[in-house]
Order: sequence, then C-alpha cells, then structure tokens
Amino acid sequence: MKEHRRVSNRVAQIQKSAIHEMTRLSKEVEDVAFLSWAKPTADTPDHIKEGAISAIKNGLVGGYSENAGLPELRQEIVQKLKRDNHVEANPSQILVTVGAIEGLAAAVMALIDPGDEVILPSPTYSTHIRQVVIASGKPVLVPSIEEEGFALDMEGIRSAITAKTRAIMYCSPNNPTGTVLSEEQLRELAQVALEKNLMVITDEAYEYFIFDGRKHFSIASIPEMRKNVVSCYTFTKTYAMTGWRIGYLHADEELIPQITKAHIPFAICAPVVSQYAALAALKGPQDCVTAFRDHYFSARNLMCERLDRLEAIFEYQKPRGSYLMFPRILMKEGQDSTTFCKKLLSEGKVSTTPGIAFGPTGQGHLRLSFCVPNEEINKAFDRMEAYFK
Ligand SMILES: Cc1ncc(COP(=O)(O)O)c(C=O)c1O
Repeated sequence: MKEHRRVSNRVAQIQKSAIHEMTRLSKEVEDVAFLSWAKPTADTPDHIKEGAISAIKNGLVGGYSENAGLPELRQEIVQKLKRDNHVEANPSQILVTVGAIEGLAAAVMALIDPGDEVILPSPTYSTHIRQVVIASGKPVLVPSIEEEGFALDMEGIRSAITAKTRAIMYCSPNNPTGTVLSEEQLRELAQVALEKNLMVITDEAYEYFIFDGRKHFSIASIPEMRKNVVSCYTFTKTYAMTGWRIGYLHADEELIPQITKAHIPFAICAPVVSQYAALAALKGPQDCVTAFRDHYFSARNLMCERLDRLEAIFEYQKPRGSYLMFPRILMKEGQDSTTFCKKLLSEGKVSTTPGIAFGPTGQGHLRLSFCVPNEEINKAFDRMEAYFK
C-alpha cells in the first residue's frame, strides 16, 4: 500500500492497539463502566510528590542525569533488589529507564538481531510482542496452559526453541491473566535458558501485587543466571506513578553499557524530576504499597464473586497477582472477542478489552481490570447481569 511506502516495514506491520481503540470508543459512551485500563486509578502518594517538588525548588531537575540514572537512586535500587528480590547487585548493574517499557525496549534492541526469535509464553502483554517486531525480531508465541492457571508449558517452550532462538520474554505477575509463575517453574525455565544459552527478559511490573500467600520470584536471584537475565521493573504500578514514566532494569555489568547504547537514542536519560520522585518512593514509608495491594486483593475477590454469578457466560482462572484477569467467554458470540467487547460496550455500557489484543491464544477471552474502586466493579457487573439475562 502507498501509505506503507512512507513508513518502515517494521512499523507498518504493527497493528493499532485494541486497548487504545477500546478507550477511544469508551469515551463515546456516556457513564460507561470502565474495566479496560491496566492503570492504577489512585493518585501518587503525597510524600513522593513532595520529593519531586523539593528537587524542582532546589534547582536539581533542569539538566540531564547520568545516562544510567542518578547514582543515589541506583544505590537505593540496589538495596531494594537485595531486600525484596533477593538479587545481589551493585549500581553498575542498574539502568534507570523511562518506565519498564523503555527498559524492555532497550533490552530487546540490545539483544536481538533481525530474524532472531524470541519466545513469549502467551497470552502476554501485547507491547512485548511489538517490541520484538520493532527490533526486526520474530515473536514466537507459546500457549500457556489455561486449565493450570495459565502455567508455563515447559514442553511447548522446549520444542519451540530453534537455532535462531535468542531469548525468552515473560511477565510475572502476568498481564492479562494475573498468573504468578512459581519459583519451581521459573527454576525450570532458568535451566532451559542455561542449557540452550538463551537470554531471559523479565517484566516484573506487578511484583508487589500478589495474593493468597503466593510469592514473587525473580529469576535473577538464581546466581548461575547472572549473565543470562535482564530484569525490568517499574515505579508505575507499585507507587501509582504511571505518568511519571520511571522504571529501571538490572543486568550483568558487562551488558549495562550495551543496553545503555540502546537507551540513549530513545531517552538520553529517564526524566530527572521523576528520578527524584522515585528516590522519595524508595526511601519513604512503604505503607502505600500495602494499602494498594489490600485494595486490589479485595477488588479481586469482589470481581470473582460477581463472575461466579455469571457462570453461564464466563469461566475464569483466579488471578493470583496483578490487578487483571482473563475470563474465557463461554457464549458462541465470544469466539470473536473484538465484536463481543464492542457490543458489550455499546449495548451494555461496560468497557473491557478483547482477548485477541494479547496474542492469538487470547481469542475467546476478555481482560477485566480490577484496579478501580469497588463501586465501578459493581456497576459493571450489575450492567452485565442485566445485559446477559
Ligand atoms: C506487564 C506490564 N509491563 C509494563 C507496563 C508499563 O509499565 P511502565 O509504565 O513502567 O512503562 C504495563 C502497563 O500496563 C504492564 O502491564
């Protein structure tokens, strides 16, 4: 097509995001019940804002920081990795990034050559797929085992490995399914990566939102994996800092200068004002994180109770983490998740995200977010009960 000649093939092949499309359509519906965004609705806690305000007042934010980020922030991140992730690191293994997203993109750019294959257990966060495509890599989607709560299919992963496979990329807790990969599964995955000499790129954006006594496990805490992992983290979810665009990654110190080469052309450095806010977040009280988690836990329970009342319409795996879930649509019309979600929006006034947005294994599902007040969940489900009656 003519239009495509003006843009690269890399970009031309990327589909518009179904999430943004649903957001656009939702704006046209008055008083919509909104369950389609994976963005905390709470505001950033005051002590974090104060950290940014005092940095502004003290004239600290007008210039660039070091490309890798403020040394004092990297030092705090090292402490956090040790305390919460059981990862032994030092500041030269940290790169502060523009959210987890830019860290993931820089990691993919630094590791993937055109034609390299990247295995992604699926359904998965659609941006990961796009990041591989934009690096001219080939995403290889390996379906997860839905009946086992979307567990990794280790056999499937093993048999998807070819001579061109370069990396495995996953998020845990998962967007869109809320699956928390167990330590046992991740140790098995690490074994495969070591055997085949593959890199593992992790997205641990929801690391603090885990329920039912499950534990977050960082694959980088396995000492043998030191050279094989790039782990990406963010302040976005933990501290309700979506708009500050601040995250970081951890990798072997030989890799950091290489990933930084990919980071500079996109960002130079992460926003300095946000780096000061992040510093305040790490140094300050952590009760906001517990409060967010408690809220998501009660919202998860409420959503599951409400889904139980719609058992003829949806079947679901209980999410053990994140603030997202991914029910299967049992009705025949659900086979095309986009049409189903658009109809539910225009006729039922409930905004959800079609499962197909998360790869072909997402077809026949929809994603529901419970990072909203409980009233919003009740409003959405009251409407769905009336709509599906
Ligand atoms: C799995 C996952 N990773 C990363 C992000 C975005 O993170 P950030 O705002 O830190 O770029 C999201 C946002 O929804 C997400 O769900």
